Amino acid sequence: MAVSMSRMTLLMGIFMGFVMVGLVTSAKFDDLFQPSWAFDHFIYEGEQLKLKLDNSSGSGFQSKSKYLFGKVNIQIKLVEGDSAGTVTAFYMSSEGPNHNEFDFEFLGNTTGEPYLIQTNVYVNGVGNREQRMNLWFDPTKDFHNYSIFWNPRQVIFLVDDTVVRQHSNLEHKGIPFPKDQPMGVYSSIWNADDWATQGGRIKTDWSHAPFIASYKGFQIDACESPASSVSAADLTKKCTSSAENKYWWDEPALSELNLHQSHELLWVKANHMVYDYCSDNSRFPVTPEECQHHRH
Ligand SMILES: *[C@@H]1O[C@H](CO)[C@@H](O)[C@H](O)[C@H]1NC(C)=O
Ligand SMILES: *[C@@H]1O[C@H](CO)[C@@H](O)[C@H](O)[C@H]1NC(C)=O
Ligand SMILES: *[C@@H]1O[C@H](CO)[C@@H](O)[C@H](O)[C@H]1NC(C)=O
Repeated sequence: MAVSMSRMTLLMGIFMGFVMVGLVTSAKFDDLFQPSWAFDHFIYEGEQLKLKLDNSSGSGFQSKSKYLFGKVNIQIKLVEGDSAGTVTAFYMSSEGPNHNEFDFEFLGNTTGEPYLIQTNVYVNGVGNREQRMNLWFDPTKDFHNYSIFWNPRQVIFLVDDTVVRQHSNLEHKGIPFPKDQPMGVYSSIWNADDWATQGGRIKTDWSHAPFIASYKGFQIDACESPASSVSAADLTKKCTSSAENKYWWDEPALSELNLHQSHELLWVKANHMVYDYCSDNSRFPVTPEECQHHRH
């Protein structure tokens, strides 16, 4: 799978006049990731990895490297049955007080009630950009693809290749955009029954533990930051297309949503979005600045 994927990307790249450099792509957990906490809560089953949450601990993993721009994808099957109070997260994050972060958080629910996906974007240490939606399928029955695409023009969140969120670069309006800090890729499962399910009213029922999230199909097709520390300027130079290096994510067609993607996003907003910080007037009496420019 990894080989055919990268060959396809390479062929597309050559076709479009792009040459690939500095990319990492793999479908194997060990090539890209390592456990970050509660190693004894990891279950390896062939191509699948399972993370366990029980009354003693949750668990989590992180990428071995950090990246600037590209795409990450993981196939996840969320906790089956009663998952109330649990949160499974898949996100990218940089480090430090002015960190940037792109989050998928899957909020569990009681048996038969729908999961919610919360997404958020932190820029220079500030988040508060939550959106929540339900899904057009049951995410606990099968594996689905969750991806984050990032280039200097936009960050896109995708579910099974459908765009569910776009955060575009509005620096020309004086709004900061995350584009000079390398980010790691993370996932974890933990108990968040103080807020996650129906506003924290439903608590985790430990008699249903262990809660298990399953993963496979790990893919990172991104510009890897060197292990030794490099300046932001040098990293940006390395990861930006130039005469020597061409990166597929800098292709002009990827600087904004295409028509099909714009329609998908409108469909998601009309049919699946249940909360958008941009329209929460009680929380933000003054509409956040980027919302005035995000036209959808
Ligand atoms: C945690 O769960 C285990 C297994 O179900 C149980 O034996 C133990 O008593 C529980 N511990 C606490 C502190 O609830
Ligand atoms: C997820 O992506 C993989 C690889 O592209 C594909 O084989 C699989 O069918 C996708 N799953 C879904 C539910 O779309
Ligand atoms: C859980 O189910 C209830 C009832 O259908 C729903 O209102 C809520 O949005 C769902 N999700 C969460 C995370 O509470």
